[in-house]
Amino acid sequence: MPDRVTRRLAADPAGFAAAGKLLREGGLVAFPTETVYGLGADARNGEAVAGIYEAKGRPRFNPLIIHTAHIDEAEKLAVFSPLAEQIAHKFWPGPLTLVLPKRANALISDLALAGLSSIAVRVPSSQTARSIIEASGRPIAAPSANRSGHVSPSIAEHVLDDLEGRIDAIVMGEAAEVGVESTILSLLDDRAVLLRPGGVTRTDLAVILGYEPDVMHEPDDESAPLAPGLLKSHYAPHARVRLNAETIEEGEAVLLFGAFRPKGLETAKLSINLSPRGDLKEAAAALFSALRMLDQSGASVIAVAPIPNFGLGEALRDRLERAAAPRN
Ligand code: TXA
Ligand code: MG
Repeated sequence: MPDRVTRRLAADPAGFAAAGKLLREGGLVAFPTETVYGLGADARNGEAVAGIYEAKGRPRFNPLIIHTAHIDEAEKLAVFSPLAEQIAHKFWPGPLTLVLPKRANALISDLALAGLSSIAVRVPSSQTARSIIEASGRPIAAPSANRSGHVSPSIAEHVLDDLEGRIDAIVMGEAAEVGVESTILSLLDDRAVLLRPGGVTRTDLAVILGYEPDVMHEPDDESAPLAPGLLKSHYAPHARVRLNAETIEEGEAVLLFGAFRPKGLETAKLSINLSPRGDLKEAAAALFSALRMLDQSGASVIAVAPIPNFGLGEALRDRLERAAAPRN
């Protein structure tokens, strides 16, 4: 890493078209939104999404916000209750993210959702952001465009300071007007819970809800570990997860990486290799669906062969450690 030339694109129709094309091809493109600059990737493309974590040096896989240019596109991804519908029409486009049940047929990579069955969606109001998303023709996963642990960028120069050489392009647009991230409101089971304060205030929300939403502070520090179980809907396999398995017990389901073959592998119930060629990006893209499949095998233990501790391997191991942690 730094391994590529970061193109500077103008915030004009030619720049939007170039950004859209790069995103469709699986590239990483930073662009302004009204809250902060985002680092976008095609949310359907697991490897592109894995690239976000790699570029940010993010040590763990958080679920990402999925951005669309219009409400009707967000409605294709999530199930909107009448209340969600009302809130969306009141605050979108704008600095509000809604956490809703994911539609079963929504084509979003498991990695972007960190394996959850809910989805965070947002329609930004920045015209630049919307033009780029529209030009891509894809839902766009976008966290803030900074290195993990750094502060969120509100101008293009902040992004370049952190990510020059690590991303394919940046659209050199306006300064972010709001400067802090969007408010995240969960409406699962129609109970309004504030997961992150932001551009839209609690009082704004109370006007529509008729009450102030419960607050559940989700640690937003990207380097701080998320207590297991805090995100209640976090994907947790039923099977017990056993890490660094060099020997397999009969009947276990096995998660492999690269060329390493644990002893006794032939007695496994099922095994899946995240990346036979040992590519961590490919492995990250495959992780959550592989866990799901291994869990569905009915095995009581998922044995995970050793995974490298560098690059994206750190995030993979972190997520697996979370899956292995005792739950309440
Ligand atoms: O203003 C913003 O929202 C910016 C711009 C770029 O749009 N984006 C942003 O994304 O702040 P990010 O990835 O830094 O924050 C995503 C937050 C995380 O705290 C994550 O845990 C939460 O959204 N989140 C995403 N999906 C979720 C879900 N299904 N349930 C609960 N929380 C979720
Ligand atoms: Mg951030």
